[in-house]
Amino acid sequence: MQALLFAAGAYLIGSIPFAVIVSRAMGLEDPRSYGSGNPGATNVLRSGNKIAAVLTLLGDGAKGWFAVWLAGRLEAPADVVAVAAIAVFLGHVFPVWLRFKGGKGVATAAGVLLAIDWRVGLAVLAVWLAVVVASRYSSLGAIVAAVFAPAAVYYVSGFSSFFLAVIAMGAILLWRHEANIRKLVNGEERRIGDAKKEGE
Ligand code: G3P
Repeated sequence: MQALLFAAGAYLIGSIPFAVIVSRAMGLEDPRSYGSGNPGATNVLRSGNKIAAVLTLLGDGAKGWFAVWLAGRLEAPADVVAVAAIAVFLGHVFPVWLRFKGGKGVATAAGVLLAIDWRVGLAVLAVWLAVVVASRYSSLGAIVAAVFAPAAVYYVSGFSSFFLAVIAMGAILLWRHEANIRKLVNGEERRIGDAKKEGE
């Protein structure tokens, strides 16, 4: 029962669609209508408004961090905190407010990792950033970071419920990047800084 309550609360927090809220508040187009159509910071950046993209990144990251932090603060057992971690991530990917069509989970997963263990969070963010800076592919950074994250969590906490939660999040994140992976392989993936409309 306790796990269910934490899962429901975390899911609702994760469901807050910052890409759509920030874009609407700043008078921008809905990110689901251009670029990749993904309601996430990378796609909001294609609007040309960097502040909106940063606010989306911070909002989506903060909700992941907050849900896990809150579960720990309320003294939930570690297994329940891990359930909250998966639930907030699922809330972002399948938000009730957007008819279950949400983002790919990168920023929210980063927030979750920072809350689980800030050293792991920073290490995974560093991997993401290094790949993004080197390649200018946001998606490639996310894919490499998703593969690296379980190893980093295992190094810190061993075979734990957090390790299993991060494996589950990584698997879903990779699945959500299916189209990106196909485009990367075909050399059609948009780099950061490319135009926002398909084919532009
Ligand atoms: O954060 C999502 C990113 O990895 C890919 O986004 O819009 O290029 O599909 P997008």
